[in-house]
This record gives sequence, structure tokens and C-alpha cells, in this order.
Amino acid sequence: QQHEDSQQQLIGKNVLVSAGPTQEAIDPVRYFSNYSSGKMGFAIAEAAYQQGANVTLVTGPSSLSVINQVERVDVTTTEEMYQEIMKRYDQVDIVIKAAAVADYRPKKVYDQKMKKQTESVTIELEKTRDILRTLGEEKRHQYLVGFAAESQNVRQNGEKKLYHKHLDAIVMNDISRDDIGFDADDNEVVFLSKSGKQKSIEQSSKPTIAKHILDLIARDWKDIYE
Ligand code: CTP
Ligand code: CA
Repeated sequence: QQHEDSQQQLIGKNVLVSAGPTQEAIDPVRYFSNYSSGKMGFAIAEAAYQQGANVTLVTGPSSLSVINQVERVDVTTTEEMYQEIMKRYDQVDIVIKAAAVADYRPKKVYDQKMKKQTESVTIELEKTRDILRTLGEEKRHQYLVGFAAESQNVRQNGEKKLYHKHLDAIVMNDISRDDIGFDADDNEVVFLSKSGKQKSIEQSSKPTIAKHILDLIARDWKDIYE
């Protein structure tokens, strides 16, 4: 790993990154989830390490691997992701929530494999916990960054999330395009901080996007805390 010391802005800071999808069980062999690959979050974790931070990556199921200087914590459900993040929250300086969390989960989880019987079946869903919003409500010293996956009115919806979830910054993603975002190699995002910094990052690979995002976060963090 090359460490460009002159550019390291987060030496010794504790950064927690969440990545990947979460999965919610229907029965022992089936689940609800989404197409998130984990690529963006994993790239963010490595970019944070390159900035000199101690990095923990809390990730939903993903086939990716991460450099072993990053502490990896694997989770499956939204509730597990919440628990693993909360355990560490007090010690963390910056949280970057790139995970694509399932918004709903089956209200009832069958303990036996569901048999096919009727012509149609209804599975009732209930909302999962909004991890990021909970972190925002319990925020003290932490700098909190969310992602916004939007298929329309990207800017407007992203800004709403920045305020409603009590974030310090939001990274907005247009997921209506299939060449960027979910499960793609590239991304194109707009970064917006509560302090008023705004930056469009043009289409490039997720590692490149991640570097830009970490640079913006580190600068804003320094302006606020140093
Ligand atoms: N998020 C979370 N817990 C949830 C849902 C979302 O922590 N149960 C986080 C995501 O990790 C992301 C941010 O909230 O950082 C925004 O996620 P997004 O799906 O864009 O927004 P939602 O608040 O879920 O609203 P909607 O899906 O309706 O746009
Ligand atoms: Ca959502």
C-alpha cells in the first residue's frame, strides 16, 4: 500500500464505514435484499485507510475482500448492522454510511421452508430501523456522512435526508442510470455538507470517487474540529 504521507489528513482518527446490502429472512432459505455489491463502501474504507485513519468496515453480505489493515465486521440483517455500529459509536470520529439498507423486512419469519400451495401469497413487511437517523439523533462528537440513492429529484431528496437524519454531509447518487451506482463499477455523485461545501464528482471508478469523497470529508472535518 502506498501511503502518501503529505496528503494524509485523518491520521489516528477512527472511521467506521458501512457497506453492502442487508438481507432480511423470509424463511430459512429465502430473503429480501437489493443489488448492492459493496463496491462503493469497500472503496471508501480503503480511501479512509489511505488518509491515515483506523478503519472499521461493517458490511452486509458481499463477495468482495478488503485490505487486511481494515477491520472487517460481517453482518446480515439491518438490526445486526445497527448493533455492530452502535457498539463502536462512542469511539468513532467519523461514520460513513454507504450501505444499502433494506427498508422493510418480513413481519413474520417462517421457521420452516415455505411450501408452495396457493396460487398467490402475500408477505407482510414492516419497516426496519433507520440506522442512520438513529445515529443522527444520538450524535455527540461524531461527524456523520450518509448516502442518498435517488431515482428522481436527486438534489432535493438528498438535501432532505441531510437535514432529517441530522447529518454533517451527504453523498447523492442518481440510481436511475444503470451505468453508475448500484452494482456498477463506476459512480457519479454530488457531495453536500451541512457547512455548505458542495462538489460534483464526475463519472469515474468507485475507488477514484471514494478518494474524492474522503478528501472532502477530511477537509470539512478539519474545518469543524481543528
Ligand atoms: N439508511 C439506514 N437505515 C435504513 C435505511 C437507510 O441507515 N433503514 C441509510 C443508508 O445507509 C444511507 C441513507 O440512510 O446512508 C439513505 O438511504 P436511502 O435508501 O437513500 O434513503 P431512505 O432514508 O431509506 O429513504 P428512501 O429509500 O425512501 O429514499
Ligand atoms: Ca432506502
